[in-house]
Amino acid sequence: MKTVKQNVHYHVGNDIETDMYTEVLNGLKVSPKKISPKYFYDKKGSELFESITLLREYYPTRTELFILNKYKNEMTEAAGKDSALIEFGSGSSEKVRILLEAMPDLKEYVPIDISKDFLYQSARALSIEYPNLSVHAVCADYTLKFEMPQLQSDRKVVFFPGSTIGNFEPHDMELFLKQTAALLKPGGGLLIGVDMKKDHAVLNAAYNDKKGVTRKFNLNVLNRLNRELLANFKLEDFSHHAFYHAEKGRIEMHLVSLKNQVIMIGDEEIEFYEGETIHTENSYKFTIEEFHKISSICGFTPKKVWSDERNWFSMHYLAVE
Ligand code: AVI
Repeated sequence: MKTVKQNVHYHVGNDIETDMYTEVLNGLKVSPKKISPKYFYDKKGSELFESITLLREYYPTRTELFILNKYKNEMTEAAGKDSALIEFGSGSSEKVRILLEAMPDLKEYVPIDISKDFLYQSARALSIEYPNLSVHAVCADYTLKFEMPQLQSDRKVVFFPGSTIGNFEPHDMELFLKQTAALLKPGGGLLIGVDMKKDHAVLNAAYNDKKGVTRKFNLNVLNRLNRELLANFKLEDFSHHAFYHAEKGRIEMHLVSLKNQVIMIGDEEIEFYEGETIHTENSYKFTIEEFHKISSICGFTPKKVWSDERNWFSMHYLAVE
């Protein structure tokens, strides 16, 4: 039997139990009602998000892949080839493969993700494909404090693609960027994907696709509450509403109650009036100047930006000096 060389290590970076019941209930008891977008991603929700990334109207994923492929050499040049590469929210580690092709001598890769089984499985696959790479898979919520494994390289570069930064509220985004700068230390850097402000029609179409996949993705959170919190939402009594709020510079997603109704979550009653909404997600969009300003406040020095011809999406390399 042929043995495959594997160089993969598994770590638990933090193990914070979130109390979904209390958090969701608290969000539905305030006005306006809200549910954190992190609850979108059960198995079905993650599959629906994958389908969203392939939609004609949803340009971010496709555009980011185009930028990564086109500028991977410049990006790895900026990042330095002697660093350890850390990825936040690594999932299947698909995007990082593009960078790895341009960094054949990279020694250490640290994928960090909250869904353990998927993370460990992807890390194993990657370590087989790249036998000279040490893969340290860390199961953690990277938005909170977490423990890093001992690495050989002194320099660290964080890769954070997907414009997930746009789903953070401004205050949380600041805390997160400051925490990342502290993790990196002087000499390190952050390579981050950021979605840009653009024609409102393009933005609105991206979150209101013709096939209704984003609608399903939004409504699926109610299915999750029915299943995991013993709620009794009827999906047909809610509609998907997504729009670009120009003043706030963000797409807002809501679920709108189509009638006056009372929903049970366990033995708690939640009242809805017709037209009342649950705010499920914000997706902030930035100009290059806005993103530079925020990252500078948080301890980074903007070094380089790559974009597509239409300036729809950007990738930034920010250094900690
Ligand atoms: C994960 N995140 C960057 C997506 C976004 O565009 O804000 C989530 C999403 N929501 C609806 N469509 C996609």
